[in-house]
Amino acid sequence: MNQTDTAVRPILDMNAFDATQASSNHQVSRRLNNLGAASVLFYRQPIEMVTAQGCWMTAADGSRYLDFYNNVPSVGHCHPKVIEAVTEQMSRLNTNTRYLVAVVDDYLDALKAKLPDALANVVMTCSGSEANDLAMRIARKVSGGTGFIVTEAAYHGNTALVTEVSPSAFRHASLPDHVVAIPAPSALVYGNDIATGFANAVRAAVKTLAQRGHRPAALLVDSIFSSDGVFAQPAGFLQAAVDTIHQAGGLYIADEVQPGFGRLGDAFWGFDYHGVQPDLVTMGKPMGNGFPMAAMASRPEYLAAFCEDTGYFNTFGGNPVAAAAGLAVLKVLEQQGLQHNARDTGYWLQQQLNQLAAEHHRITDVRGSGLFIGVDLGAEDDPTRPDPVYTVQIINRMRDAGVLIGAAGKHAATLKVRPPLCLTRNEAQQFVDALSAALTTD
Ligand SMILES: Cc1ncc(COP(=O)(O)O)c(C=O)c1O
Repeated sequence: MNQTDTAVRPILDMNAFDATQASSNHQVSRRLNNLGAASVLFYRQPIEMVTAQGCWMTAADGSRYLDFYNNVPSVGHCHPKVIEAVTEQMSRLNTNTRYLVAVVDDYLDALKAKLPDALANVVMTCSGSEANDLAMRIARKVSGGTGFIVTEAAYHGNTALVTEVSPSAFRHASLPDHVVAIPAPSALVYGNDIATGFANAVRAAVKTLAQRGHRPAALLVDSIFSSDGVFAQPAGFLQAAVDTIHQAGGLYIADEVQPGFGRLGDAFWGFDYHGVQPDLVTMGKPMGNGFPMAAMASRPEYLAAFCEDTGYFNTFGGNPVAAAAGLAVLKVLEQQGLQHNARDTGYWLQQQLNQLAAEHHRITDVRGSGLFIGVDLGAEDDPTRPDPVYTVQIINRMRDAGVLIGAAGKHAATLKVRPPLCLTRNEAQQFVDALSAALTTD
């Protein structure tokens, strides 16, 4: 066993409600009694939500919140077209996946039209974790290797296999021998030539695996490095790392659970943004705009090789209602031009945030693509030092001002900016104003 870098902050602890530090009202106590230690709530004072629409959520006490956190209701909370499609399908037929139901293949045809031709088979699952679990098992079968290379603060899900490759899931623990974590593709770590630096880190990880008796099965990365703190530039830096893992006999699994479905603006997928060809792709979160669904796309020969041993069946994965939700999401993305909006409004928002950075020395970096943006916050006396305590303060101040936002990054000192893709400029401006006010309240 090798120790993870203890400096990596556990993802579930970021901006988490801490019952030892705050008084619990009836609703909170009820939740804690029901979910026990597995309860995860946001904010010093959790919010009871009752309804949502577009980019806005409404709490039980009538307060309205601008949602800049949620990467699931990507085409907008409670989108009428998605609701209509789900309701219509649910009232007609929902069944397990062992029958022929046209909407399922309609959806898969539409989804595949967005994917590289080579990835002609898609397996539907219920969660991104299941999709990554399957991709990892296929990678092992196809490569003959057992090792995985991931980034330092990666999160890929919650099954036993996937938790092992999710360093940010660990509170105290260690990564198993077959997993090597490398620093995220940041200029702070690799300097100006991120592509070469990141590829060299993959090469060194392959060597480390070899010393431990493992050949690599795959390089598994979230194409926007969301939990690592959002790293997008320069577009194309992934290619050298992908070449390196291929030379070492491993596959490249593109985890698109966070960046997929148009959020990056310039491309529908993160791997497209980088111009690289993945061997396997996993996706989830925004795929059903809240209807739980996810998928893994593969070359047919890879999936066939895997199925020689076990096959794959998922009772709920790819059910007709999920397919109807997914199809509606793809249509809405297209009809409302939401990828373009992510690009245009996201670009404008980044400009505003850069202006804010020029006025506030504690904003040390603004980066990202489309409506996936990371904003680093540093200490008052030395802004180069990431400041997770200040970050939580800002997040809670913004909550109190009616704006929802989360934290990310190895040090939990990056604001993760991820509003629904239907965001208007006016709403983007409201976010900038709220952040500006939070930064000036000292
Ligand atoms: C990059 C990434 N991959 C996979 C997952 C797991 O997805 P799910 O929670 O649907 O299992 C997550 C969840 O946050 C994620 O951020």
